[in-house]
Amino acid sequence: MCGIFGYVNFLVDKSRGEIVDNLLEGLRRLEYRGYDSTGISIDGDNRDETLIIKTPGKVSALKQKVDSMSLNRDTVFENHVGIAHTRWATHGQPEYSNCHPHRSDPNCEFVIIHNGIITNFRELKTLLLSKGMEFESETDSECIAKLFKHVYDTNMKAGIYLDFNELTKQVLYELEGSYGLLVKSSHYPGEICGTRKGSPLLVGVRTDRKLKVDFVDVEFRDSAKDGVISHNTQTQEEMGLLPVTPSESNLRTSQSRAFLSDDGLPMPVEFFLSSDPASVIQHTKKVLFLEDDDIAHIYDGELHIHRAKKSAGESTTRQIQTLEMELNEIMKGPYKHFMQKEIFEQPDSTFNTMRGRLDFENSRVILGGIKSWLPTIRRCRRIIMIACGTSYHSCLATRSIFEELTEIPVSIELASDFLDRRSPVFRDDTCLFVSQSGETADSILALQYCLERGALTVGIVNSVGSSMSRQTHCGVHINAGPEIGVASTKAYTSQYIALVMFALSLSSDSISKSERRKEIIEGLKHIPQQIKTVLSMEDKIKSLCDSNLNDQRSLLLLGRGYQHATALEGALKIKEISYMHSEGVLAGELKHGVLALVDDKLPIIAFATKDSLFPKVVSAIEQVTAREGRPIIICNEGHEVLAGGKALATLHVPLTVDCLQGLLNIIPLQLMSYWLAVNRGVDVDFPRNLAKSVTVE
Ligand code: UD1
Ligand code: F6R
Repeated sequence: MCGIFGYVNFLVDKSRGEIVDNLLEGLRRLEYRGYDSTGISIDGDNRDETLIIKTPGKVSALKQKVDSMSLNRDTVFENHVGIAHTRWATHGQPEYSNCHPHRSDPNCEFVIIHNGIITNFRELKTLLLSKGMEFESETDSECIAKLFKHVYDTNMKAGIYLDFNELTKQVLYELEGSYGLLVKSSHYPGEICGTRKGSPLLVGVRTDRKLKVDFVDVEFRDSAKDGVISHNTQTQEEMGLLPVTPSESNLRTSQSRAFLSDDGLPMPVEFFLSSDPASVIQHTKKVLFLEDDDIAHIYDGELHIHRAKKSAGESTTRQIQTLEMELNEIMKGPYKHFMQKEIFEQPDSTFNTMRGRLDFENSRVILGGIKSWLPTIRRCRRIIMIACGTSYHSCLATRSIFEELTEIPVSIELASDFLDRRSPVFRDDTCLFVSQSGETADSILALQYCLERGALTVGIVNSVGSSMSRQTHCGVHINAGPEIGVASTKAYTSQYIALVMFALSLSSDSISKSERRKEIIEGLKHIPQQIKTVLSMEDKIKSLCDSNLNDQRSLLLLGRGYQHATALEGALKIKEISYMHSEGVLAGELKHGVLALVDDKLPIIAFATKDSLFPKVVSAIEQVTAREGRPIIICNEGHEVLAGGKALATLHVPLTVDCLQGLLNIIPLQLMSYWLAVNRGVDVDFPRNLAKSVTVE
C-alpha cells in the first residue's frame, strides 16, 4: 500500500546527495507494503526551485532515474525538506503522471504526497478547473496540491498571509476522505506540514541534545488572532492586527517545550516523517505518533502540533515514545524471502506470544492488557470477532474453543460484510478486532462503527502503536515481531495463540473447565517445539510440490471442525502466493456439490488429524477415493488414514490438543504455498495485486 517518508534537517549540514540517499532508503524500508510507483521531491539550486523525480516501478528504478540526472549532489543544505512516496494505484494506472509527488502548478509552489482516498475529489476538481487550474493526473491526490495553491492565492489576494499550518487547516476543511499527507512549499522554505486522518503518520526526532520534555504540546490556536497576518491595510484594521510583513517572527509566538535548548538558541535536529516505523528506526527510536486531525508543523528545528478540528476530551499532549523495534528484526537474515524467514521464525514468534503471560507450573494465564477488563467482558451478552483475510481465519479457528470455555455466544464477521450489513451492535457487546497491521481500513471502519454504538472494543494486534491498538479500549499485542512478507504466516499462529489465551483468561474462574484449561496450557507449552518438528519436513513438502503440484491449475483442501479454518487459510496462502486456484471446503459440505469436481486429476489435501470428527473426515476421504481422487493426507503419527492405498502422499504432524492442532496443520500449507510460488517464479514477498497493509476500503 502507499507509503510516505519525509526528511527534514535543521542546522545539520546535509549534501543533496545525502538527502536523496536518505529519501531512497526510507522508501526501500516501505517496499514490503507493496507498491507500483515511487517518487521524491527536493529543493533545486535556487531557493524557490523545487524538483520532482518520479517513476512507475520499483525504488531501484527511481534510483536509476536519479543517477541518470545531472543533479549537483554536493550542494550543501543547512535546512532542507525532502519528501518521498511509494504509490499503490487506486485512482489511475501506475504511470508517470499518476506517481506522487503531485504539484500545484509547473513552478511547484506546493508539492504533496498522500496516502488514502479523497472522496470528494470530483467536486473539488470541478471547482479547481473552473478557477483555471490544469490537472496532470487521474489521481484524487492531485487536487490537494491544487487546493493548497488556490487557498493560498485567494488569501494573498485578500491581503492575508497564512502561517503554513493555518493554510493546511483551511485546506483540510475542504477535504473529505482519508489521508496521511505531507506538504512542502516554496512559499514556506525549510518547513513541512504533515497531517493524518484514518491513515498512519509518525514523526521521528534525532538530535544529539537531550529533549527537555518527552512530549509535544498540542497548540489549540485561535485562527482569527494567531497564524494569520494581514498586509492589506483594510483587512488589518478589520482584524485589529498590527501591520507586519509575512516574514516577521511574531507570526509564531509559541516555542515547542521539547525543543528548548539551555542557551535559548535553536538546536541541530533532524525529523523523519513516515507512515511506518520501519523506515524511521534506523535513524532514531524517538517517535511521536500523530492522532487523526493533528497537523505536525516543522520549522526552525521545532515540531509543533496543531489541530485541524477541535473535538471534546482530546489529549493536550503527544508523547515522544521510544520504539522497541530493532532494525535487524526487519531484515531477511539467511533466508531468501521474508515469507520464508517468517515461516521459520514461528517456533520463536509463538513462544514470544506466550512469554511472560503463561504460567505453565500453575496453569495460569495473565494478559496484562485485558486483565482489568475481564469482569466486564465476562458479563457481555456476546462476543463479535471482526477481521479480514488471514486474521479472520484465526477467529474461525478459535471460535469454538472460545464458546466452549467462556459459554458466551461468539459470532465471527468479515469486517467488510459486517459494515455492508450495518449489523446491529449494542452496548453490552464485546467486539474483538484481530489484525496484524492494525491499519486495515475495513477493520478500522468496523471498529469506529462499534465505538459509536458504545460496545466494548478489544484489539488482538501485532503492530504496537497502530491505529487499532490505540483506538480499542484494551487488547493484547501478539508480539510476533514485524511481519514483512505480504502473505501473513507468523501473525496467524500468534493470533491463534493470543485468542486461545484470551479464552483461557475469560474462563479462569470456572472450576468445571479447569481440567480442560490445564490440558490446553500444557499443549501450548509444546507448540513451539512441535512447530520446529513440522518445519523439518520442508524437503519432503518441496519434493511433493515438484512431483505432484507444480503444474496443477487447481487444488482443493478439505477440513472439518477445527480444521475448517486450516483449509480456508491454506487455500488463501496458496492462491495469493502461487496464483494457483485453490479452495478450502468444509468436509461436511463435500456431498452437497463439490464432489462433482473430484476425479483422478484434481489434487485434494485432506486434514485428518485426530479429534472427535476424525471418523467423519475419514468418510469424506473415502468419498473422494471412491471417485478415483488421490488425496494428500495430513494426519498424526499412529493415526494413519489408509484411504484404500490410494493416497498420493501422507504428511505426519505431531499430535496436540484438538483446539491447538490447527497451529501445526497450517505449517505444511505455508511451506507448500511458498515452494509452489518459488517454483513458479513468483516474487513471493510482493505477489501481484496485493499489498501488505490494505488501508483502502
Ligand atoms: C506490556 C508491555 C510490555 C511489557 C509488559 C510488562 C507494551 C506495548 N507492552 O505488555 O512491553 O513487557 O507490559 O508488564 O507496552 N492494547 C490495546 N489494544 C490492542 C492491543 C493492546 O488497547 O489492540 C493495550 C492494552 O490494553 C494494554 C497495552 O495496550 O494497555 C499493552 O498491551 P500488551 O502489550 O498486550 O500488554 P502486556 O502484555 O501487559
Ligand atoms: C493474507 C493476508 C491478508 C491479511 C488481511 C488483513 O496472507 O495477509 O489476508 O490477513 O489483509 O490484514 P491485517 O491482519 O493486517 O488486518
